[in-house]
Amino acid sequence: MIIEPKVRNFICLTAHPIGCASAVNRQIEYVKSQPPIEGPKRALIIGASTGYGLASRIAITFGLQADTIGVMLEKPSRGKRTATAGFYNNKAFEEAARSEGRVAITINDDAFSKECKDQTIAAIKEHLGQVDLIIYSLAAPRRTDADGTTWSSVIKPTGETFVGKTLNLSDNTVDTATLEPATDEEVEATIKVMGGEDWSDWLYALQNAGVLADNAVTIAYSYIGPEMTHAIYRDGSIGQAKKDLYRTADQLRDEFSDKNLTARVSVNKAVVTQASAAIPSVSLYISVLYKLMKEEGTHEGCIQQMHRLLAEKIFGENGVLLDENGLIRMDDWEMKPELQAQIKDIWQRISTENIDELADVDGYWEDFYNMFGFHLPDVDYTADVTDY
Ligand code: NAI
Repeated sequence: MIIEPKVRNFICLTAHPIGCASAVNRQIEYVKSQPPIEGPKRALIIGASTGYGLASRIAITFGLQADTIGVMLEKPSRGKRTATAGFYNNKAFEEAARSEGRVAITINDDAFSKECKDQTIAAIKEHLGQVDLIIYSLAAPRRTDADGTTWSSVIKPTGETFVGKTLNLSDNTVDTATLEPATDEEVEATIKVMGGEDWSDWLYALQNAGVLADNAVTIAYSYIGPEMTHAIYRDGSIGQAKKDLYRTADQLRDEFSDKNLTARVSVNKAVVTQASAAIPSVSLYISVLYKLMKEEGTHEGCIQQMHRLLAEKIFGENGVLLDENGLIRMDDWEMKPELQAQIKDIWQRISTENIDELADVDGYWEDFYNMFGFHLPDVDYTADVTDY
């Protein structure tokens, strides 16, 4: 089969197995080109197949030389339908990790469920004994509880209607996005899905099963971003869920103090992932950010961010580096005042007429296609793919 991208709005319905493997191998090569990192050797990554979770797992495996268990929710191929990108990414990752003697076991199941937690714990017992590093990198649209109740997360403002500039992904024009505020129920549901409850459930499940090591480190991810996205992100429904995540980190440190657990939230940089592509305004902001950071030489993708997180902010010489609010700031370069002042100025001026000059829309799309295994330079896309 010849596999081509089928893009619908902010998602690609197909994925290319060889392209996904190439993208994963590029990330592995990056980590191998960096000095090794000293730290934990047994890790669990929840949300391990794409975006920041995949990059974390790669940095942990090839940077820390650690054995890993990953949790993901991905679909294998069926008939003429390709598998999801995360499925192919994971296959390529596991092959590469195992070829270097690392344990790499993946549970493909709903992370919110008890069954998934039980299965993961059984795998930890069998292959790792205990875990001393737990990364929580889920970005999920919904959560179903044991009693069948389903919550769906929404990306909406709270309080007032949001009207803001956005990138129209169907024709690369600058458009206006208008979003009505979330209801209280929608905010509550978003907190259920993307807040800290499930992160905490995981830690308790690990602890109760005796597989949480003393002095373990657990990290969940958040985003804050600049003023122009505050209404839709920081102060919106997703922002409320992130605040819940911050509270959870405080509680976890407190509740697991006898184990000396380090529980922190890392605020990461805005990058193109399947989760961020769905957020209005953020796509346009990312395009402007990419242009300026690439010009400045400070641009990072998921893998550079996650390697720097481990090497400098968590397991560096000075231990865990925190800001005044107790957060790890991987968005330090993104949020530099001079850079943000430039972005603010561009934001006021940017329009369909000048977007090519003021934003890196091509860079946005390159990352987007790469996520699904397309537009990789070393892949022959005219070749028939039989194993998919
Ligand atoms: P992503 O969409 O690339 O990855 C989500 C991962 O979660 C995948 O591995 C997927 O298989 C897994 N997953 C989703 N639902 C699941 C379920 N029910 N059970 C098991 N696995 C499931 O997302 P991304 O962007 O890497 O997000 C990860 C975290 O990073 C989120 O907390 C997000 O808010 C945060 N973040 C993202 C930023 C961005 O610009 N993309 C910036 C800063 C933070």
